[in-house]
Amino acid sequence: MVAGLLSAAVGVALLGRVEAGSPLTTVTSSRTTKQPTRIASSASRRGRPRPGEDGPGTLTVCPGPCQTRDVPVCLHEVAGGEGAVDETVDRTGDAPSPDTVRDRALRRAHEHAATWLHSLGDRPVPARVDADTVADALGRELPDGPAEAADVVDLLASAGEPGLTAMPSGRFFGFVTGGSHPAALAADWLVSVWDQNAILRKVTPAVAAVEEVAAGWLLELLGLPGGCGVGFVTGATAANFTGIAAGRDELLRRAGWDPVRGLAGGPPLRVVAGRERHDSVELALRYAGLPRPELVDVDREGRVVPGALREALDASPAVPTLLLLQAGNLHSGAFDPFEACVGLAHEYGAWVHVDGAFGLWAAASPSHAHLTAGVEAADSWATDAHKTLNVPYDCGIAVVRDPAALTAAMGGHGDYLIADAAGDAIDRVPEMSRRARGVPVWAALRAMGRSGVAQMVDRMCAQARTFADAIGTIEGAEILNDVVLTQVCAAFGDDDRTQGVVARMLRDGTAWTSGSRWHGRAVLRLSVSNAATTDDDVHRTLEALRRAVAEPQP
Ligand SMILES: Cc1ncc(COP(=O)(O)O)c(C=O)c1O
Repeated sequence: MVAGLLSAAVGVALLGRVEAGSPLTTVTSSRTTKQPTRIASSASRRGRPRPGEDGPGTLTVCPGPCQTRDVPVCLHEVAGGEGAVDETVDRTGDAPSPDTVRDRALRRAHEHAATWLHSLGDRPVPARVDADTVADALGRELPDGPAEAADVVDLLASAGEPGLTAMPSGRFFGFVTGGSHPAALAADWLVSVWDQNAILRKVTPAVAAVEEVAAGWLLELLGLPGGCGVGFVTGATAANFTGIAAGRDELLRRAGWDPVRGLAGGPPLRVVAGRERHDSVELALRYAGLPRPELVDVDREGRVVPGALREALDASPAVPTLLLLQAGNLHSGAFDPFEACVGLAHEYGAWVHVDGAFGLWAAASPSHAHLTAGVEAADSWATDAHKTLNVPYDCGIAVVRDPAALTAAMGGHGDYLIADAAGDAIDRVPEMSRRARGVPVWAALRAMGRSGVAQMVDRMCAQARTFADAIGTIEGAEILNDVVLTQVCAAFGDDDRTQGVVARMLRDGTAWTSGSRWHGRAVLRLSVSNAATTDDDVHRTLEALRRAVAEPQP
């Protein structure tokens, strides 16, 4: 049902017309009256049928629900309708207009998109071929001349399809990947079509407005202070970098050093983090020119031990310190004890940054918000919209309590840039030019509302608990973490056996689960982060897991 809605939504997004009397309305009325017609297509003239063509040289145009493809909304429906693209130009021999070329390419993209999305329910989750095979199918030689846009789209889709992993499938539980809410996906298409460089308020007021509204909603949902600066970045790594850079510069200023002078010759800075910080914060520290963190002890779930943190802070109380905490441990889903740690760090004048790539979203659910208690006292936060919120890649969110500190670290200037006194998006992200990636965030939030986001988080957590409970009943299986959120870590005996189960799960293809190492042991990790995951997906995954465990170890 979600896929059907999605297909309809993207169709509307591409066509851009929803009023009465629009082509879509025409389609509805034409369903009962029009018969399929056949037209020539340039691809088939060269003997290469496109998907949906029923033989060389012909392209079936459907008058209603597609009669040649397994898709409920087929853009062939609009052929011949009011305002529809004239598909007959090829027959007359006239060169297609740029509008026609573009519309054809978009229609092909929509068809391939619908085919892909409708395949997700049953296709094997892992890719069927490797990257070299796809590169061969694409053709490795730079073409001498131009090709039709629609043909390029066809080639891309047909060569790429076997090499795609069904990450948006409800049975993809690897990494922390998220899914795509239909409204966010359709809005993301609009972002490409609008093609706004989302940097200046005065130049693209629509995008500025949408992103500003979305930013306010985000702060409310995540329980963060209302006046924070919010930047829409590529992902949590970039959001970690943004928060860390804002903190670095503020600490340098407090120490009497202007950050524009660079780090060399400036006051030393310390970075402290829990032993189980995510690797991305180390990357972000490198980008920011800062040293690797000094690691403090964590408990069994990977949470920073406040006593160990105090000891670390006490060791050099005079050195300006950046403390990196975590909302949502990759393996356990656990949260650092913010109430104890943030206040403590502030006693030492530290800047506290929280990596909450997926876990910060617990705050949006009244039944899970206790996990983030005290997080709002930190100085900066990183999260992803492309994980728990189910916005398509790439979309992360950087939040800094003091908007001036964010602007000081990220602000871009140029005599040709038309600044707005209210502040511009360019001042809140590392990039200068960027796509309007806050728009799909707005769409997801507008579509789900407060209660929808909370229910989504609760459903993911409930499904994770279902996994843990059911895996716990499999003979020889062990759940290694306290399942408080969306992450489940399991072992199936010794490392060889666990790795064997991970490998057999991949070979089976019903679902995707990750292998990893945690606390010195091989583990199978499940991360529930796709709103499209159904209880049936969970059931089918558990069946596959039981098969993988039952299969004798070679
Ligand atoms: C806790 C945590 N932090 C940061 C990241 C990095 O996020 P991204 O890949 O969006 O940059 C991840 C990715 O899974 C994560 O789980």
